[in-house]
Amino acid sequence: MRGKFLTVEGIDGAGKSTHIGFVTQFLQARGKTVVSSREPGGTPLGEKLRELLLHEKMHLETEALLMFASRREHMAQVIEPALAAGSWVLSDRFTDASFAYQSGGRGMDRSKMEALEAWVHPQLQPDLTLLFDVPLEVARERLDATRTLDKFEREQGEFFARCRAEYLRRAEQFPQRFVVIDSTRSIAQTQQTIGEALEKLL
Ligand code: ADP
Ligand code: TYD
Repeated sequence: MRGKFLTVEGIDGAGKSTHIGFVTQFLQARGKTVVSSREPGGTPLGEKLRELLLHEKMHLETEALLMFASRREHMAQVIEPALAAGSWVLSDRFTDASFAYQSGGRGMDRSKMEALEAWVHPQLQPDLTLLFDVPLEVARERLDATRTLDKFEREQGEFFARCRAEYLRRAEQFPQRFVVIDSTRSIAQTQQTIGEALEKLL
């Protein structure tokens, strides 16, 4: 039986990475084989593209195209084979992030993004997308407290406001696969909500 495809999304600092291990363990405890991966990245070529994407300045459409180049490779090498083998795939970001960051944040024409999505994965969509949602100030505080910032994380508040709005728009457009999680709550409360969403899928 084909596995399920799960994605986690949210603006930088929303708390996404904090919960990836929990999702994996929750599914493994219920007998699923979980392949955990990320975008941009997830393959040797994708990780090289990630280096460029996170540190080099480039035209916004170059950025979008490289995100989809990484995604195409990720699908071919990791996502499709794993799903076909019956594994569950958990990807830290997927195409919703391109809509949020390149269309919402940077302002790339949404119809071009839709064309890329239709070209690169006309059939594939996540079975479940966990969107970690927090106000910008909370995300910023969490980021500043933790790490050296990459190209995206150094963007201003208005950029993340547009990313967040685009994520929420996607969630409204695809309510059957999105679960929007209030990530201002405690880690334990957040994990409770994640567990409920996963149980529904199992
Ligand atoms: P992201 O992957 O979305 O950028 P992280 O998971 O790395 O964010 O979280 C950023 C910081 O916020 C980390 O230091 C993490 O421990 C903290 N954090 C995450 N979730 C919560 C939460 N619910 N309450 C308090 N702090 C949190
Ligand atoms: P992420 O893995 O969340 O970074 P970190 O490991 O620091 O938590 O994501 C890397 C960055 O790439 C993030 O700022 C969002 C950005 N991104 C896009 O702009 N478009 C995309 O399509 C994807 C997948 C990521």
